[in-house]
Amino acid sequence: MAPLWKENFSLKQLNTFGFDARARRFTELQKREDLDAFFERGRAPELLLGAGSNVLLLREEYEEVALNSLKGSRLLDENEDSVRLAVASGEIWHELVLQTLQQSWYGLENLSLIPGTVGAAPIQNIGAYGVELESVLEEVLAREWSTGELRRFSREDCQLGYRDSFFKRAGKGRFFIEEVVLRLSKRPDVNLSYGALRQMLERQGISEPSPQDVSRAVIEIRQSKLPAPEQIGNAGSFFKNPVLSGLAAQHWLELFSEAPHYVLEFDEEGRPLTIKIPAAWLIEQCGWKGRRRGAVGVHQRQALVLVHYGGGKARELLALSEEIQESVYERFGLELEREVNVV
Ligand code: FAD
Ligand code: EPU
Repeated sequence: MAPLWKENFSLKQLNTFGFDARARRFTELQKREDLDAFFERGRAPELLLGAGSNVLLLREEYEEVALNSLKGSRLLDENEDSVRLAVASGEIWHELVLQTLQQSWYGLENLSLIPGTVGAAPIQNIGAYGVELESVLEEVLAREWSTGELRRFSREDCQLGYRDSFFKRAGKGRFFIEEVVLRLSKRPDVNLSYGALRQMLERQGISEPSPQDVSRAVIEIRQSKLPAPEQIGNAGSFFKNPVLSGLAAQHWLELFSEAPHYVLEFDEEGRPLTIKIPAAWLIEQCGWKGRRRGAVGVHQRQALVLVHYGGGKARELLALSEEIQESVYERFGLELEREVNVV
C-alpha cells in the first residue's frame, strides 16, 4: 500500500526548538508495512524525524517529511550475566531506560531522561554522566535508502566516537536505522565516574547506590540544569565540547591555565595528552550566558544550551550561534563544532 500523506503539515510540535516549519507532504511510519511501502519508492524523504530533539529546521517548508514511530522490542537471548535486546527505532529512549530498569537489566541508567528515539541514539552515540551508548550497543540494523537493502552494522562498523559515528560521516543521510541491538547486564554495577553525579548521590546520603538510585539522581541533575523543551524550546547542547591533543593541548593549557578541563588521556610522563574543555565555560567567559536576542538566547543555567522563547526564526538562532562561535574563536582560539543537526 502506498504511504498515506498529509498535506501542508506543521512541524512545530515535532521539533523541540519549536520552530514553525511545515511539510508539504508528511507521513508517519508506524508499522513495518508502512516502511516497506515507503521503501518501494527507492528514495529518502527530504527529512526524516525521530523526536526532533537534535535538529534545527532551518527552512520554512520541506517537500517530504517522514516521522519514525516504529515500536516494539524483542529479547533475543539471555544468559546468567546479560540480555540481548532488539529495539525498534521509533521507541522513545527514556521509556526504554525505565522499562529495562524495571526488568533489572542494567547499563542505561546514566542515560536517563535523554530525549529522542532509540534509532537516533547511535547517530551521535548519545552520552551523559560518564556513559555513552557505545558501552551497551551491539548492532544497528539499517536499510539503505537507495537500494532498500537491510544491513547489519557491528559496533565497530558504527565507528562511534564522542557525539560521532559513521552515520554522521560517510553514512550521513544514506540509511534508515530500523532496529538497535543492546547488550544489558544483569549485574547492578554502577558507573559513578562523573563528579556531578557522585556529588548528587552524596547530598542525597546514598553511599551504595543502585542503578535505580543512579537513574533518579541523573534525572534530578538534568531537571535542575536543562530547560524542559515543553517550557523553553531547545535541543540540549548546541555545540560539542572541544577536544585537544598533544602539543595543542599543552600550549592551550599554558595560555588558559584557569580553564576547567577533563583529561581523557595522559602521556608516559603523566602530562595531559588529550583534554576536553567545557564549551559552556568558554561561552560563559565570553559573556553570553543568559543573554537574549529577541526570540532566541543562551540559557541562564547552562551556557551550552541555546533557546527559542517562541515566535522566532531558526535563522535567528543560527546567527546567534555563529556569533558565539566567532567570539569563542577570538578569545580562546578554539572552533566550536555544532552538535545539533542543521537540516
Ligand atoms: P532527531 O532530532 O529527530 O534526529 C536527529 C538526526 O538523526 C536527524 O538528522 C535525523 O534525520 C536523523 N535520524 C533520526 N532518526 C533516524 C533513524 N531512525 N534513521 C536514520 N536517521 C535518523 N544528547 C546526548 O547525547 N546527551 C544528552 O545528555 C542530551 N541531552 C539533551 C537534552 C535536551 C533537553 C535535548 C532537547 C536534547 C538532548 N540531547 C542529548 C540531544 C538528543 O536528545 C539526542 O541527539 C537524540 O538522540 C536525538 O533523537 P531524536 O529522535 O530526537 O532525533
Ligand atoms: N559550565 C560553565 N557554565 C555553564 C555550565 C557549565 O562554565 O553554564 C562548566 C562547568 O565547569 C561544568 C562543566 O561546564 O563543570 C560541564 O557542565 P555539565 O556537567 O553541565 O556538562 P556539559 O559538558 O555542558 C555534557 C554534554 C551533555 C550531557 C552532560 C552530562 C556535550 C556537548 N554535552 O554537557 O549532553 O548531558 O555533559 O554528561 O558533550 C547534549 O548532548 O545535548 C547534552 C545535553
